[in-house]
Amino acid sequence: MRKMIIAGNWKMYKTIPDALNLIRTLKPKLIGEKEVEVIICPPFNALSPLAEILVDSPIKLGAQNMHWEEEGAFTGEISGKMLLTSRVSHVILGHSERRKFFCEDDEIINRKVRKALETGLIPILCIGESLEEREANQTLKVLENQLLQGLSGIEIKDPARLIIAYEPVWAIGTGRNATPAQAQEAHLFIRDLLNRRYETEIANNINILYGGSVKPANALELLRQPDVDGSLVGGASLKAEDFFQIIQAGKEVCN
Ligand code: PGA
Repeated sequence: MRKMIIAGNWKMYKTIPDALNLIRTLKPKLIGEKEVEVIICPPFNALSPLAEILVDSPIKLGAQNMHWEEEGAFTGEISGKMLLTSRVSHVILGHSERRKFFCEDDEIINRKVRKALETGLIPILCIGESLEEREANQTLKVLENQLLQGLSGIEIKDPARLIIAYEPVWAIGTGRNATPAQAQEAHLFIRDLLNRRYETEIANNINILYGGSVKPANALELLRQPDVDGSLVGGASLKAEDFFQIIQAGKEVCN
């Protein structure tokens, strides 16, 4: 059985005091939370301060990026090994904003996914088509390329070590989410691809999250889709109340 996962991608928002404020509101609401796995991905400098106040909380921490080497002359970069010392368990890789603004291609993303796994971090590998690609009926082709190249040469022995996020680029930060049917279609396709790549037992237990304008008003219908195992939330994760409502929607689907 796949666990429901709700992850918050804060992007380049929140100073350390703002980050602490949000977590101080959210943490007491999630004491003993077992059904839904909650992951917060703040900016790098907030990771350690948040780790300190989350020691006794089920809320997990994720980073938004990492380098594919362990250390070296890479000014401005951070490695998985460094993230581990801030109690980070997850790392978002291949987000469309990284692909677009920082020229990350599938080969770079593949190197990062490999390194994350090697380091003991759980990669949240993001894939998704642009509006142009959707309109040109290229959605499935794009998803196939991004997924297979992102996972090239990677063997998965434990399905809990990998998370995929389907994030249609046209839905990110636009207020225009994929319909539940569009999300389910893409997720099922991704599930089939995973089945081609890995044993059924593994493929069927890898979490596939939906991301793109998820908010309290649409979370429930998206999360109810059989292959939507959670969501990667951007804008709505910046407000404790909205994010908490999305977590509640996840809980409702579990019951
Ligand atoms: P959004 O972002 O929820 O603000 O659309 C999602 C994401 O980029 O992960």
